[in-house]
Amino acid sequence: MTLTQAKEKLEAYGQEHLLKYYEELSPAEQEGLLSQIEATDMEVLKACRNREMLPEKGKIAPLAVMRLSEIQANEEAFTSTGLEAIRGGQVGAVLLAGGMGTRLGSDAPKGMFNIGQTRELYIFQCLIGNLLEVVRRADTWIHLFVMTSDKNHEATVQFLTDHAFFGYRQEYVHFFTQEMAAATDYEGKIYLEEKGKLSTSPNGNGGWFISLKKAGLLELVHQAGIQWLNVFAVDNVLQRIADPCFIGATIQKHCVVGAKVVQKNAPDEKVGVICLEDGRPSIVEYYELTEEMMQEKDADGEPAYYYGVILNYLFSVAELERLLEKRLPLHIVEKKIPYLDETGKLVKPEAPNGYKYENLVLDMIHQMESCLPFEVEREKEFAPVKNPTGVDSVESARKLLEKNGVEI
Ligand code: UTP
Repeated sequence: MTLTQAKEKLEAYGQEHLLKYYEELSPAEQEGLLSQIEATDMEVLKACRNREMLPEKGKIAPLAVMRLSEIQANEEAFTSTGLEAIRGGQVGAVLLAGGMGTRLGSDAPKGMFNIGQTRELYIFQCLIGNLLEVVRRADTWIHLFVMTSDKNHEATVQFLTDHAFFGYRQEYVHFFTQEMAAATDYEGKIYLEEKGKLSTSPNGNGGWFISLKKAGLLELVHQAGIQWLNVFAVDNVLQRIADPCFIGATIQKHCVVGAKVVQKNAPDEKVGVICLEDGRPSIVEYYELTEEMMQEKDADGEPAYYYGVILNYLFSVAELERLLEKRLPLHIVEKKIPYLDETGKLVKPEAPNGYKYENLVLDMIHQMESCLPFEVEREKEFAPVKNPTGVDSVESARKLLEKNGVEI
């Protein structure tokens, strides 16, 4: 893109300030800036001032959850179906590790966080350890795809390599990076993070399948005969990955996606809740739940919207491929964004100062025909590390790890 073309594009979107330092840059930096301007989707930024562009929720109704009692009664049969699928090479795992983990406040990738106290115990180590249990039980390796972003890719690969993948077989670990999106102030003006660089952040966890395809890994999925992908977050140190019982239940119930859910610990807990939206499976975010919905009861007299998703989903690959054509809704999220101030100095803000623009994996559920919400015991499978202290924190996750007999 030439400078004139860049100016035209920026004018059209009210982003002329991005060329403020252009004359100070070296030719290579100038070129880099122009190509970044060319590649950046600025149309999406309009949504921050025109919220009506964002899709509205449809009619919400309860969706029946497979409860622990039903799972226990069928555990053997579900597990055997799941193990069969794993042994047949039909299951892959996808670790979503492209997030910035800004709430935790460490610059390093979240998986590198040492949650141990008397010994080193990294988040990646916990997750891989959990997956290795299934590998041993099934006596077969499971392909593990790891999504990173431009911001943390090198550090993640280096760390896992340095730690010999915590015992995982390297040929079964495949990295891919996600796309980035521009980050803006509250008026939708893109921040600069360097004089020749727009401020960008990972574009949310909803683009994972598109990014996996772009990286050429869908071919591997096909070659290996993988029919199910178990997507999971980096920050739940207790989660069971490629859980045979969960896989078997989803297959036996002929659902195209399974979602692990936990009973909420309070009606207003900040987790997305599984439901039906206009007759299709969906997730309603905690801030979209009205007081009325929190009190509503289902046909059995139980709270109607009481099961929260924990970002552990099992997707049918065939359905994911069908989804590739569709666009997911945009979410505008308030975050802390490092930026250059008026004097050209880099500032790392202590409080949120603008928006990131994201697609979310939870919106993929609504595109699916059928979903099995599968209850798991939260004390055993849900220990998210989002904050340094308090709710969903390093502190609370440590307690839960200890409760589950993990030496920390
Ligand atoms: P979070 O929603 O907790 O976001 O991610 P985050 O960026 O990691 O953390 P905060 O909000 O800045 O503190 C949930 C999961 O989705 C992944 C994260 O790595 C985590 O596993 N994720 C999130 C991505 O892979 N890419 C993204 O762009 C965002």
